[in-house]
Amino acid sequence: MSIGTEMYRKTLLTVAGNKAVENLSIKYGKKLAGKFIAGNTLEEALEEIRVLNNKGIMATLDHLGEGITHLREAALYRDEYVRLVEGIARQGADSNVSLKPTQMGLALDPDEGYRNIRAVATQAKLNNLFVRIDMEDSPFTQATLDIVRRLHSEGLDNTGTVLQAYLHRTVEDTRDMIREGIRLRLVKGAYKEPASVAYQNTSEVIDQFKTMIRNHLDQGVYTAVASHDDHIISWTKQYAKDRGISPDAFEFQMLYGLRMSEQERLAREGYRIRCYVPYGTMWYPYYTRRLAEKPANLWMVLKNMFR
Ligand code: FDA
Repeated sequence: MSIGTEMYRKTLLTVAGNKAVENLSIKYGKKLAGKFIAGNTLEEALEEIRVLNNKGIMATLDHLGEGITHLREAALYRDEYVRLVEGIARQGADSNVSLKPTQMGLALDPDEGYRNIRAVATQAKLNNLFVRIDMEDSPFTQATLDIVRRLHSEGLDNTGTVLQAYLHRTVEDTRDMIREGIRLRLVKGAYKEPASVAYQNTSEVIDQFKTMIRNHLDQGVYTAVASHDDHIISWTKQYAKDRGISPDAFEFQMLYGLRMSEQERLAREGYRIRCYVPYGTMWYPYYTRRLAEKPANLWMVLKNMFR
């Protein structure tokens, strides 16, 4: 990510918040968004996971949705997640579960949000499944970490979360989470954040990402390196190799529809690789973040609009 790319990312995330742009994107972008989404229904997504598992790729299943406006929506999402957990278990699929705290009501009523997440985590624990609480924008960072800590204190140690390399606070959070035995997915960070809380410079983000990876590998703590960046992937492989760390000591993660041949290659090379598989109809915010990550994706949408 160069400075120009970073500016593009920020501009796109700002423009995408505009209602008129949202309406246009929903009208013209749906077909292209399909490239990043494994279907509208749970059944379609489970079928995609079967295909991935057959190629040696593990999954983490996400029902799209975030930033809800009524708690009754959160209850519906919670119920869909319970169905999702049962679906994974029934199929015997090699898949975790990923969910967003605001989808469960965190922004509207933190206690109710917590209870909804706990209901999903409890059902997952009964089925020996792991639940990843995705990390959203910085107003929710502390609340999300608190939720995972509280779940662990109640015996729901089948849960973990995500830390974003772009946040200044992440070095300390990584140290604390490792000490507390909470499993992490490590990412660069996908939201528009101000300089007061986040590094704006790509090289600083990469440096912090590497520090987070090192902190895990050096201490023998299992982690997930979630990135499509060749530099991060080859650096991680080399770091592990140089220190005799087994490829089983960590996993790579990538998003559904992105670099699928690289995902298959990592599986063939004997690395653990997990694909984040989203499904459902609330695809706009998820898709917008993917457009912001790569100008070529926006170009495809624009071409489609004028076709
Ligand atoms: P970077 O953006 O530098 O991309 C490197 C290369 O990968 C690009 O040059 C391109 O080839 C390819 N690529 C990357 N994005 C692409 C795209 N959208 N379309 C096409 N090609 C693309 N963030 C967050 O804040 N909270 C979270 O919970 C998560 N969860 C999460 C799970 C998983 C499994 C992944 C892979 C990522 C996330 N993220 C996330 C997103 C993350 O923070 C980040 O925005 C993206 O992964 C993009 O950063 P990269 O490290 O992939 O590199």
